[in-house]
Amino acid sequence: MCGIVGYIGGRTALPFLVDGLKRLEYRGYDSAGIATVGESGLELVRAKGKLHNLKEKLNGAAHSTGTVGIGHTRWATHGKPEEHNAHPHTDASGRLAVIQNGIIENYAELRLHLKERGCLFKSETDTEVIPHLIACHLAGHSLLEAVLAAVGKLKGAFAIAVVSADFPDELIVVRQQAPLVIGFGEGENYFASDVPAIVSHTTRVLTLQDGECARLTRDEVQIHDFSGARLRRTPRSLNWNPSLVEKRGFRHFMLKEIHEQPGVIRDTLEDRIGDATGPIRLGLSSDLFADLERIYIIACGTSWHASLVGKYLIEELAGIPTEVNYASEFRYCPPPLNLRTLVIGVSQSGETGDTNAALTAAKARGVRLLGITNRPESSLGALVGELIDTRAGMEIGVAATKTFTAQLVAFYLLALHLAHLRGTRSGERIREILVGLQQLPAQIEGILDTQERYITELAREFDATRDFIFIGRGLNYPIALEGALKLKEISYIHAEGYPAGEMKHGPIALLDSEVPVVAVAVPGKVYEKTLSNAQEAKARDARLIGVAPLDEPAAVETFDQILPVPVVDEILSPILTVVPLQLLAYHIAARRGLDVDQPRNLAKSVTVE
Ligand code: G6P
Repeated sequence: MCGIVGYIGGRTALPFLVDGLKRLEYRGYDSAGIATVGESGLELVRAKGKLHNLKEKLNGAAHSTGTVGIGHTRWATHGKPEEHNAHPHTDASGRLAVIQNGIIENYAELRLHLKERGCLFKSETDTEVIPHLIACHLAGHSLLEAVLAAVGKLKGAFAIAVVSADFPDELIVVRQQAPLVIGFGEGENYFASDVPAIVSHTTRVLTLQDGECARLTRDEVQIHDFSGARLRRTPRSLNWNPSLVEKRGFRHFMLKEIHEQPGVIRDTLEDRIGDATGPIRLGLSSDLFADLERIYIIACGTSWHASLVGKYLIEELAGIPTEVNYASEFRYCPPPLNLRTLVIGVSQSGETGDTNAALTAAKARGVRLLGITNRPESSLGALVGELIDTRAGMEIGVAATKTFTAQLVAFYLLALHLAHLRGTRSGERIREILVGLQQLPAQIEGILDTQERYITELAREFDATRDFIFIGRGLNYPIALEGALKLKEISYIHAEGYPAGEMKHGPIALLDSEVPVVAVAVPGKVYEKTLSNAQEAKARDARLIGVAPLDEPAAVETFDQILPVPVVDEILSPILTVVPLQLLAYHIAARRGLDVDQPRNLAKSVTVE
């Protein structure tokens, strides 16, 4: 959702704030703003729209020299994306400023109460109640005491930061179910919603927990609980390479991340399968799987698509009934759960509000929990007892790519591990699949090397296209869904994914020569059936693009264009078939001149429910 960032130290805060906001812009980009505290008091600069608008405003103004400051990049919830709704928000004196990521659920009631006390509101946001509430509690109290008194009145999920011209040597941060990490420097300290904003300054970090707040000064970070009691917490060292958050010559982060997939898959597999003859080493306790009856997988968006493939693999290889739920549905319509149920939460950010709320609800019912994420240090990581780190690292492009393929690899390892434990597949079959997995990185490199230019050219042909249909069957049905989602997320072209066999039961009515159909058709159980479904579309004049093997006569005969993938064991095919679809979506959007990494209305990490 929104990104928040802050600095206190001996240097001018502004450069850190602007750079930090740039690195957090993937979390929201409806408006941006900063507040700094210096000799001239509190300075506030805000602008509607992306960060470059704020930068322009800052360039046109005298530079703030304040050495304490906070910054915010917004994904609008309450109030339109206008400058008056941009954070930071101030109290009546204009000497105290607050930024917030999350939602204050009881803001309407608080606002009414504050208005009755004479407070004037300048925005429609939920956040603006916070500076007024703090101001009400300041008389005779420290800034920390006043903030905690205000926080005691708030309901919701939020991360908050506060600066005040009357307390120029400190800043206060608060966390309640929204991410917040503190960075420790030499004579300076930082905080941010996420580590990319601080990793080039320090790798010594501390993730604040729910119900905790911190008082940052230049030389110290004091952690407290909401009652004000001091807590002892030790920072940890991040094993992070700052180049993860650079584009390294690629035009967009998304393209860079598509190209990182072979390396990510190698990392995900590394030291987990050895020479493919022994057990899979996932580092999970055996209690997690003892007497297991059923699995529920909870996820959103692209992670939900990876989970659909995961369901297929677990049922096919390990024979355990598995259901995939949208996290936002699971929480309010939970299925019957018992102690022999395992609930798996899948998330690239580890901060998705819907997923973490659903996992919290499942946890309260005593089930076993497992997380699959590339962010083990995230809130999801803290929530689940056991975790598979997909090792995809940080992903910046809002449309998920490398984190998706890494989640798929994690599901292969998990399903094969379960098959080994339960004896549902022979050692020989398990080995065959593991060996196939090890060959995927080179095969993806082949796809990237040979298809990039062809797909760039092909993208030209869809300048005026308004609708796309993606079809697939079996474990490539989720890939059709993912291909459609990638295209709509970044190109704003309407796209639908369907199980190929379901086309004839309705969606076929949409087809004519203006609607291209992309079919994922690879040799295996459903190959001929999928080709027949593609032919049914062709008979309605649809233009047919196949993600299929190039040298298969039936595919050559069926498709107008082929985005070729090597022939592999069908069960491994999703990791290959998704790559040309990522490239197709990317090149169509890039050709349309759209902001591929920060598509409109979306955010990388959606922390509100
Ligand atoms: C947001 C992102 C999607 C992502 C979804 C789930 O909507 O824009 O790209 O798939 O959240 O995110 P998660 O971090 O839980 O995988």
